[in-house]
Amino acid sequence: MEHIYFDSRKKNLVLLDQRFLPAQEKWFRCADTSDVVYALQKMVIRGAPAIGVAAAYGCVLAALEVKGGDAWLKSLEEKTREISQARPTAANLGWAVQRMLAACKSRIFSTATDLAGFWLEQALEIHREDVRSNRLMGSHGLDLLEDGDTVMTHCNAGALATGGYGTALGVIRAAVEEGKRIRVIASETRPFLQGARLTAYELARDNIPVRVACDNACAYLMHRQMVNKVVVGADCIAANGDTANKIGTYALAVLAERHGIPFYVAAPLSTFDLSLPSGEDIPIEERDPQEVRYIMGQPIVPEDVDVYNYAFDVTPHHLISGIITDKGILSLPLQDNTGAL
Ligand code: MRU
Repeated sequence: MEHIYFDSRKKNLVLLDQRFLPAQEKWFRCADTSDVVYALQKMVIRGAPAIGVAAAYGCVLAALEVKGGDAWLKSLEEKTREISQARPTAANLGWAVQRMLAACKSRIFSTATDLAGFWLEQALEIHREDVRSNRLMGSHGLDLLEDGDTVMTHCNAGALATGGYGTALGVIRAAVEEGKRIRVIASETRPFLQGARLTAYELARDNIPVRVACDNACAYLMHRQMVNKVVVGADCIAANGDTANKIGTYALAVLAERHGIPFYVAAPLSTFDLSLPSGEDIPIEERDPQEVRYIMGQPIVPEDVDVYNYAFDVTPHHLISGIITDKGILSLPLQDNTGAL
């Protein structure tokens, strides 16, 4: 299923609304920049590469929105900035907007409508490229998985989190396509439940055996030797390989090391931010406390008690067995002591 597409007739960006899965398949239409920012912030669409693809289409809407105004270049700058700042951790967001801006640098557009047409081609290419990268990651990573493996994953790093096919789930899909029998354990991923709602939904649709475990069951499953590998996605990878991913990933990496289980990250190069020397420099999003305080509209925390809602944590590179990228598998640390990659 195409879960992100641009409706050229209505000039809308159309997104499968991930807030309602798996119960309902509803579509969310973005007609302008503010709709795109809302969709990103409320997690109508989420997952770093998918955020990047949506942001690229969002730039097209920004260009269409400013087309009537005199100072369209200036207001376009503001709108693209709003998009690129919608969420702070996903490196693909800033990467995609920068790439859109860079694409038009050496060209002259007399109207914003001309620019929108050019940008739509660029956005479509970013989208296609992301799917190609995921398939490449799959082909590089599939040999890491053996026939009969049970793979634990966290959050959702699948088709829904990307332009299509997935990063961590792309590696699993590629191994399954090779004929390997792979079982998946999806940790539920409180508070937004990406593992339970989204990873289970998309793997079940593809007939890949999947079971959901509460986040706090993962240690016991590893202790009982029910997990052979852990494969997760990434939101931002610093120059030394430290990796930000959904909150709870760090705990899984520590547990995997304790139990002697290989722990892999799968991510395209667009998720690397080499301007950040280490994980300490990655901005970590803090989200609305209400996400933790309520489950399905019911309060689960006493009103006068505070909560934490960090959306991501950082796994230090020494806990990562390898990073599966579209260019091949990187071993860690990424930087040698001269600072070169
Ligand atoms: O808050 P989210 O749902 O956007 O967080 C997503 C993740 O942490 C994913 O694991 C990551 O983006 C990799 S997606 C291929």
